[in-house]
Amino acid sequence: MIDINKSYNESNLETMAKMPDCFVDLTVTSPPYDGLRTYNGYSFPFEDIAKELFRITKQGGILVWIVGDGHEKGGETLTSFKQALFFKEIGFIVHDTIIYKKNNFSVPFPDKYHQTFEYCFILSKGKKKTFNPICDRKNKKAGQSGGVQSITEKDGTRSKRSAKIINDYGKRHNVWEYDTGMYLSTKDKFAFNHPAIFPEELVKDHIISWSNEGDLVYDPFMGSGTTAKMSILNNRNWIGSEISSEYCTIIEERIKKALEEKRKEKDLQAGTLFGNEM
Ligand SMILES: C[S@@+](CC[C@H](N)C(=O)[O-])C[C@H]1O[C@@H](n2cnc3c(N)ncnc32)[C@H](O)[C@@H]1O
Repeated sequence: MIDINKSYNESNLETMAKMPDCFVDLTVTSPPYDGLRTYNGYSFPFEDIAKELFRITKQGGILVWIVGDGHEKGGETLTSFKQALFFKEIGFIVHDTIIYKKNNFSVPFPDKYHQTFEYCFILSKGKKKTFNPICDRKNKKAGQSGGVQSITEKDGTRSKRSAKIINDYGKRHNVWEYDTGMYLSTKDKFAFNHPAIFPEELVKDHIISWSNEGDLVYDPFMGSGTTAKMSILNNRNWIGSEISSEYCTIIEERIKKALEEKRKEKDLQAGTLFGNEM
């Protein structure tokens, strides 16, 4: 068996070998892309990892695979699509492809438009069991009535009814935009010793959308520990794997800070409750 709420300094295949079948509710992760960056201890047997991820995912669980493409021979590698097709081949359903749009780019291209997005493949093992849609898209018609609609009644006759008042906010669409880069992806300055940090808000939004409080979230490529941090702050259990011991030092510090933040939040809530009772 395996301990939860713990980061493992080892290859993800070693960590997953300790997990029983159908164990994890949600995986949120980003693998090394086409050797775009060099990580300490780089090792990436994609197909073995993909099969293990399928095995350890619960029925109805989700894998969020966040990936971009490198370049070869003057064109894009399309490794992202090859990986998505492989996930489909081994049994995952490609439930959605969300575009994660960045507000800036890391490498300028003189002969093409700058690259400012990555794919989030939302892969489910069977029919997904959890979807908590985020409704933060301001409706242009907020506050207005939807007008009069013509309805067919059960007996086939037609009648007219006023449509619902349109809510202020609707379900967001599947292009998600975030601030990225130095001190924008996170305020944890020390985390920038890792070269490829997720924006915390991106991870939080996936955790909220595809899992419930108390669920188990896994990141097989922990990097600086963003998934662990956002799981702690959003009341989920978590497990992480990171092969490089240098990055594990960042993870430990981030987890310590997140637990401290959570403890302060609880103390504050308890204080407020106590204050109300007085
Ligand atoms: C793209 S980074 C992940 C960054 C992470 N999302 C964050 O927010 O910091 C990929 C990480 O995977 C690690 N890695 C590469 N191969 C691995 C393996 N087989 N098992 C565990 N970690 C691995 C690398 O050291 C690197 O830190």
